Amino acid sequence: MTRVAVVSGGTRGIGAAIAKALKAVGYQVAVTYHGNDEAAQKFNAETGVHVFKWDVSNYDACVEGLAKIGAAVGPVDVLINNAGITRDGMLHKMTPDQWYAVINTNLNSLFNMCRPVIEGMRERNFGRIINISSINGQKGQMGQTNYSAAKAGDIGFTKALAQENASKGVTVNTICPGYIATEMVLAVPKEIIQKSILPQIPVRRLGAPEEIARCVVFLASDEAGFITGSTLSANGGQYMM
Ligand code: CAA
Repeated sequence: MTRVAVVSGGTRGIGAAIAKALKAVGYQVAVTYHGNDEAAQKFNAETGVHVFKWDVSNYDACVEGLAKIGAAVGPVDVLINNAGITRDGMLHKMTPDQWYAVINTNLNSLFNMCRPVIEGMRERNFGRIINISSINGQKGQMGQTNYSAAKAGDIGFTKALAQENASKGVTVNTICPGYIATEMVLAVPKEIIQKSILPQIPVRRLGAPEEIARCVVFLASDEAGFITGSTLSANGGQYMM
């Protein structure tokens, strides 16, 4: 039986690596994206993975989009909530738009994406939900009150949903990547990466997207059925809890 996996924000960065890794081990994969049509077309041409465009911060768009995926690819067995944005700035300079954009995309999206698929997973007695949080949701990060709050919220959401669905064969876990070499991290000013971030990472390098994808493949597998509500840190030793 081929399982169906959906990866939000799956055409670039960590999401693209996750989508490719799941495809490589035999899943039928569909990904969502929001803004970058060119990257999405390129990803689709390279991988053959189904690509769907909608805004995960919009509940109705998620209901509609996930129904389309259900019709085109099949019922969702594995959901990876990966889509995320940053709007960094010190709180004393942050605008309400910066705050709400990050909370809506990085936290409210978990409700928007899980709510339409959770009943089906419960009925079929199988599901895997993997939420991509961040080291900065665990430890807090200056310049990221919005992002740290949302990512910490993702961890609480995971633990509650895991308890609700454990008896139904549905596991819910969080992965907390550290600083991974993606466009998002490389958008941080170079001197801050060199001077402030790299010295805090004991392995002395940024992570690779594929290193997060491997964690996802493991948590999505049938063999990981006893792991639920957990938080898996992959951060080069930068933060241990
Ligand atoms: N770690 C440690 N120190 C940091 C830092 C960081 N991540 N970011 C900034 N600082 C330090 C700066 O080095 C600077 O120190 P000095 O005064 O000693 O030079 C001080 O904080 C003030 O920084 P700025 O002069 O840049 O202040 P600003 O108001 O112009 O900008 C900022 C503030 C927007 C927060 C900017 O510094 C910034 O973008 N920082 C990066 C924040 C960050 O780490 N974001 C993570 C993005 S990647 C991500 O989110 C993915 C993930 O999940 C890990």
